[in-house]
Order: sequence, then C-alpha cells, then structure tokens
Amino acid sequence: MNILDRFETHEHDVIVIGAGGAGLRAAIEASAQGAKVALVCKSLLGKAHTVMAEGGIAAALANVDKDDNWQTHFTDTMFGGKYVNNNKMAELHAKEAPERVHELEHWGAVFDRTQEGKIIQRAFGGHKYKRLSHVGDRTGLEMIRTLQDKGVHMGIDVYMECTVTKLLKDEGRISGAFGYWRETGKFVIFKAKSVVLATGGVCKIFKINSNSWEYTADGQALAYEAGAEIIDSEFIQFHPTGMIWPPGVIGILVTEAVRGEGGILTNSKGERFMEKYDPKLMELSTRDVVARAIYTENREGRGSKHGGAYLDISHKGAEYVKKKLPSMYHQFKDLADVDITAGPMEVGPTGHYSMGGVRVEAETAMSCVPGLFACGEVAGGMHGANRLGGNSLSDLVVFGRRAGLAAAEFAKKNPPAKIDEKEIQGAEKEMTTYFENTGDNPYTVHMELQELMQANVGIFRLEEDIQKAISGLNKIKEKAKNLRIEGSRMYNPGWHMANDLQNMIMYAEAIAKCASMRKESRGAHSRLDFPNPNPEDATWNSLVKKGPNGEMIVEKIPTMQMPSDLMGVLKNDQERVSKYSNLLNSSVGA
Ligand code: FUM
Repeated sequence: MNILDRFETHEHDVIVIGAGGAGLRAAIEASAQGAKVALVCKSLLGKAHTVMAEGGIAAALANVDKDDNWQTHFTDTMFGGKYVNNNKMAELHAKEAPERVHELEHWGAVFDRTQEGKIIQRAFGGHKYKRLSHVGDRTGLEMIRTLQDKGVHMGIDVYMECTVTKLLKDEGRISGAFGYWRETGKFVIFKAKSVVLATGGVCKIFKINSNSWEYTADGQALAYEAGAEIIDSEFIQFHPTGMIWPPGVIGILVTEAVRGEGGILTNSKGERFMEKYDPKLMELSTRDVVARAIYTENREGRGSKHGGAYLDISHKGAEYVKKKLPSMYHQFKDLADVDITAGPMEVGPTGHYSMGGVRVEAETAMSCVPGLFACGEVAGGMHGANRLGGNSLSDLVVFGRRAGLAAAEFAKKNPPAKIDEKEIQGAEKEMTTYFENTGDNPYTVHMELQELMQANVGIFRLEEDIQKAISGLNKIKEKAKNLRIEGSRMYNPGWHMANDLQNMIMYAEAIAKCASMRKESRGAHSRLDFPNPNPEDATWNSLVKKGPNGEMIVEKIPTMQMPSDLMGVLKNDQERVSKYSNLLNSSVGA
C-alpha cells in the first residue's frame, strides 16, 4: 500500500492557511481568478486576531480631512517605521487602501458615517490626518464578518480546527501541506500548487500580550523550515494600552480609538506625562513612544495603582463614549467593574504585533520559495520598525488581495506538484514522537519562555539581558526536544501546545538574535545601552534563515533603495525630514 493512501487527502490549486482578514481576502481573490481554493484554519472561522484591530482601517479617503492623500499616508507609514520599511510595500499600501475600503463597503461593511453620509474617519497615533474608517470600536470584527460572508458565498472550501505542521515541497517548489484535525488528532494532507500563509502573529511568546491562543508564530516557523527568509524579527510592537487589572484580564487590548477620540493619559501625580515625551502629538504619538512613556513613568515611581497609567475619556460624556467606544464600555464594566463614562481606566503596554515576518516581494507577496506566499502579520517589511495603528487592517486587504491574485496565477502556470513520501513520513514522526518522550510538560515550558522573553527582550533591551534570553532559549530548546505528552491524539491540548511551542521557540530565537545584532534604538526596538538611532543602521534589515546544518543564520541585508519619486514624496515633508534626519540613511538624506 502506498503510504499516502493511509492519509485523508484534499487537492486544491491554492491553499490559504489562516482565516483572518488577510487569509479571507487572499482566498476571495484566488477564487475570483478561478482557482479551486481551500481555507485552512487552526480555529473556528471568524475567530481571528483581526477583530483586535478595533479602532479602524487606515486609508487616505480624505472624507474628514480634505488634504489627505496617498503621499501623506506613505510618509506617515515610513516615518512610523523609522525608514527601514520596504518602501514599495508602503507605496502600494498607501495607494490601494482607499479602493479596498470602498470594496469592503460594497461587500456589506457598515462603516460609521459623517453628517453628509460619507464614511467617517478618526484620528490615530502617527497619522497626520483623521484617516481611520471605523465601525465604533469593532472595525476588525465588521471586516471579518464582511469577508467571511463574501468568501462563503464564493464557495471556498473551509477546513476549520486544523493545524498545519509542515509545508511540503517538490524539487524546491511548494506542493502542499501536512496537518492534523485538532479534535480527532488524525493527520491530513493538502495537495496544492501554491500556498498562501496568513497565520498572523507571534505575541504568545510574551507573558503580557493582546493575542488570543492561535498567535504562536506558526506561519513564520513553517516558512522558515521550508527555506523562506524572515526579516526584521527584532521589531515587536507593544501596544501602549492593554488592561492591567484585575489579573485575569491582563493584556486584553484597550483600543487606541480611546486616545483617538480624545482620551487623556495621566500618572499617579495627575500629570499629563505625554507632554514630556511628545509635546506635539501627545497621546497621539506613535505606539512605541507612548508604550515607552508609560513604562518609564512606572520605572520612575509615577505609575498607576496596578503598574500602568490612567486613561480618561469620561470628559466626552456618557452618550458619546457609549456610541463611539461601545466595546470598551462593556469590556471595562464586565471584566473590571469600571465605568469608563464616569472615570479613568488603568492601562499598560501589551505585546500586540510583530512587524517582522516572512520576506516577500511587494507586488506578489511571494517568498523566495516558489509557490509560497505570505500576507498580513506573518509577512514582514511593510511596517519597518514600528507599525501605525490601523495600518494592519489596510495591510491585510491590500496584500491579501495581491497574494491571492499571484497565488492563483502561479497555480495556473504550474503543473500539479508531487508529494514526497519521505516528507510525509518525517512529518508524521515529528508529531507522534511526543508520546514516547519523558521530559517536561509543554505548558510549563511555555510559561518559562514567556517569562524569559518578557523580562529580557521586552520594551527596553540591554545586551546582557538579550544574552540571558539567548542562553535561556538554548536550555528551552533542549527541553522542547523531549516534551512529554500523556494520553492519545484525540482532544489533546497538551499535544497542540507542544507543536505551537516549537514555532514560538524558533521565532523567539530570531527576535533575540536580531535584537542583539541591532546595536541602536529604532522604532519598537529600544536599547538602553544604545539609546539613540544610528543613521548607518537605517541601511540594513535583519534577515534570518535556516542553515544547511539546521542552524539559524542571522545576517544584515541592505535596506531597499528608495526610488527618486518616492524620495521626492518624503522630502516634501521638510519638517519631519529635517527634524528626524538622525533616523535616515544617506540615500534619503536630510
Ligand atoms: O488599538 C487598536 O484598535 C488596534 C489597532 C491596530 O492594531 O491596528
């Protein structure tokens, strides 16, 4: 009997792994191009971290501020990313975001309105103009609802509660994926001509995070193992405002829309401390700046009761708050017994987003592995050293569409790839050996990983701490080779965690090693021992790939050259160019 006959097998032109905004948009596009598409997700359809981008989708519609345009959105994004972004991605994103928002509206998304009936837009950190189209504070949720309806009606095959553990290859190109059903533990093979990764982020690596259980660096690790390159791993975004009390809800996101709607941050002395850190933009400074400010106020003894800051929106009045921030009102009332229409909430930084990820070509979202595409948070480059709020939702739909289109084209041009029996045997063995191991419980090791990374490679970094993380990770890696799983493959969360943990460890190592290599502070990467940006370090991005002996190779690659037309766009903003010349490399010039 052929070994493949032992496994349930599905054949598609394109498989999309991950069903958040990027995955859904990619699947819709590939399907619209005539491809037979499968959408495979670890969780239930509709349950995606996209819903945690609450405050809005950034696009220069100019409905509220007439002067807005793609050039300003591009400039804001590059400045937010401290100029190490893939400038082609930032350009495409700024140009195409408005069309993607109108498309969502056309497909049924019910955005809030201006008095004249246009899509309304609100202020957000680092955006020069009011730019975020929103649905109260539930924008991501409305996007998922809209895309899900559209995708289901297009006849995309959806495989839920299925974890992919390995990407399959045939002579260098992608041939499918191997995984298991989370309920039964049975293995499954997906044959495909192209694969789109849209698995989201990594922040379950950190102890305090806004992410739900799915965000364990799966796509990043799958791509790395398949030979793809990972860039910018050192850049992890700590969203300034997560819940910090009571203990059971620590990390849950408090949308930036609270500040966008006029929320004020104060310390234990009642001081509006952002005056010291960014007197011009105040609470609407970029996330890296606000997160560091809250952290610093605490370190210097001016934190709120439970170790964060006070955020107050009550001056806007109860009716306004409940209309504009309904989820926040309920979240604090139900989870913390705090009425945010009557007084301040307590907030603190929470691991939220990974700017780094799979290195892709801007136009097609294809990685260096033929047939392997990546979009959304799993892809790197677009946001540079720090992402602006709201740019994630627009990124998902802009590059989700591009990835779906290119994956369908790739599938059209290429014959079906073959499945290699040896790869399947290896993938099966990797997942079954856990039951023969005698070592640690995966949950204990996960907690150890989270403590290690939070303490040593968090908001502020120091070489000696990073080295502690690297040697701690070496020990954790040893433990991860012998994780002990009891019981059978059916309904076994410990087994799922063992697999997730391997992915998180791979990415944690990439974060720590790249954090050590970047000896300057830039965007979300803040080194206490190198507190300033160094213009020479704007000339490179970090790159991680798997070496021939299984070792992690970490190196610097040149930052993408900025073409003269885009350089002209940036230079138009003389105020920022001269003020922040220390962030720029000579090719941009002050
Ligand atoms: O604060 C928020 O609503 C999150 C938005 C985002 O991450 O883009």
